[in-house]
Amino acid sequence: MEYRGYDSAGVAILDGAGQTAVERKAGRLSNLEAELDDIGRDTFTGTSGMGHTRWATHGRPTDRNAHPHRDVSGAVSVVHNGIIENFAPLRAELEAAGVEFSSDTDTEAAVHLVARAYADGPTAGDFVASALSVLQRLDGAFTLVFTHSDHPDTIVAARRSTPLVVGVGEGEMFVGSDVAAFIEHTRNAVELGQDQVVVITSAGYDIMNFDGTSAEGRPFRIDWDLAAAEKGGHDYFMLKEIQEQPTAVADTLLGHFTGGKIVLDEQRLSDQELRDVDKVFVVACGSAYHSGLLAKYAIEHWTRLPVEVELASEFRYRDPVLDRSTLVVAISQSGETADTLEAVRHAKEQKARVLAVCNTNGAQIPREADAVLYTRAGPEIGVASTKAFLAQVTANFLVGLALAQARGTKYPDEVAREYADLEAMPALVERVLESVEPVRALARELASSPTVLFLGRHVGYPVALEGALKLKELAYMHAEGFAAGELKHGPIALIEDGLPVIVVMPSPKGRAVLHSKLLSNIREIQARGARTVVIAEEGDEAVRPFADHLIEIPAAPTLFQPLLSTVPLQVFAAEVAQTRGYDVDKPRNLAKSVTVE
Ligand code: G6P
Repeated sequence: MEYRGYDSAGVAILDGAGQTAVERKAGRLSNLEAELDDIGRDTFTGTSGMGHTRWATHGRPTDRNAHPHRDVSGAVSVVHNGIIENFAPLRAELEAAGVEFSSDTDTEAAVHLVARAYADGPTAGDFVASALSVLQRLDGAFTLVFTHSDHPDTIVAARRSTPLVVGVGEGEMFVGSDVAAFIEHTRNAVELGQDQVVVITSAGYDIMNFDGTSAEGRPFRIDWDLAAAEKGGHDYFMLKEIQEQPTAVADTLLGHFTGGKIVLDEQRLSDQELRDVDKVFVVACGSAYHSGLLAKYAIEHWTRLPVEVELASEFRYRDPVLDRSTLVVAISQSGETADTLEAVRHAKEQKARVLAVCNTNGAQIPREADAVLYTRAGPEIGVASTKAFLAQVTANFLVGLALAQARGTKYPDEVAREYADLEAMPALVERVLESVEPVRALARELASSPTVLFLGRHVGYPVALEGALKLKELAYMHAEGFAAGELKHGPIALIEDGLPVIVVMPSPKGRAVLHSKLLSNIREIQARGARTVVIAEEGDEAVRPFADHLIEIPAAPTLFQPLLSTVPLQVFAAEVAQTRGYDVDKPRNLAKSVTVE
């Protein structure tokens, strides 16, 4: 299960005689294995237990933040995936009652709450009822598994918005985030629905709702092998990651709008310092840089602050004009990219403030930044960024709204409205994913084309750049993205008979002028023989006559459309690469995180 998270790992084993042995270790799973060998694996014997590999959301990837977490007595243990959104008030309540926390995680509140419900009150002495009472108090997205030393024959597991499956063996039972956890032991599985709990005993399993009323799971048989199971049935992690994008966007939003305000994950800057910002630089590399180009449109529009977007590798050698009222937004999935890190350091030397948008909790860039907003895409294994990119685009919007809120350029109700529009995006991304089959067919048709061009205007321009980058990275195909307005200043000379040109159309209902300008551009290239592939909003009839292939996406606010229009381009590039027989997870010559300049 290491692919689900690899910043730390831990196990808890119940010995059946009232004790639970726990061991946790930061770093890869092999660190934990070495530790267990040192201690002696026979210390960890029993007939029930659990293991966890972590992808940090709250709290750095250290030994003490690794799961399982335990209550003060050590009797109750928990592992958790997801985010408990209301952990702060729960933690405050527990601390006020004298509970001492031993980690910085959101998870730990849950284990103390269960221990208290078990010790006292209406659910005292009843492990299952105690867990249920706590689940009803939690907000957010979570899969939780609880054990109790005094009940070694019972495991309580629950899910809301994150996955949980039960494995039904012979004389043994399993739960896991996905079937890869137990596929070597059984092929009989049961999927849990939303807000359901499973109580596992040696005798079988019982599924219920959070209020204890009985519920039904969906039994199924696993016909995948282990490798396919890890990839959720896809041939490549990247294809799975493309499918995970609605969740990546939703999770990135989660918890960042509370009490009517946009909140960052870490803020070592005062509100006044944020208000004093008079200029923004965005620095990043690769796809993260493209997400930064998109951020410019939103931040300038919402805050009236000038924004410059710069490749991190160019930034510091240019002697940019920075001072203490400059905000440098550093975007990095890994948080370790050398060019971006050096750009951050240069900015700090010049006294600028740094805000990091990062997918990896505790990485170097967020550590050195003054403020952090984490994207919550989860681990991205495919080298070419997909779900992390969409999560970055989403997080950048939150940065823009946080600045607008601090500067007062948007009223609280306007910020709330933008956030509500963002919250509607995951469902629209899902709809795009449901309708990409024709994109795959088209990709197979165009797979032997020597070149593909991409055109866009306004926010469609960075999308065009990202679409071209994906095709280069994955399919080793010559691809270029252009601002459609630049066409007549050079690129139009490239157009010849049959050349595929992918055009990202703006909404006809949004900025009408953009739409009509791009319509003219498509006419110009079609007249010169280009084969036009047009990504347009559903119901955009005007573009139909000029589209040799039309890819329709749902209507969305102009600034947010890239969250939709990027998706078919990712699918296109992945399918071309597969048709050409390439490994889409590990494109040649590329690395996932580039730690040299
Ligand atoms: C590498 C990857 C790209 C990624 C870029 C920036 O080049 O192949 O997919 O966009 O690094 O990575 P970062 O971790 O800083 O976002």
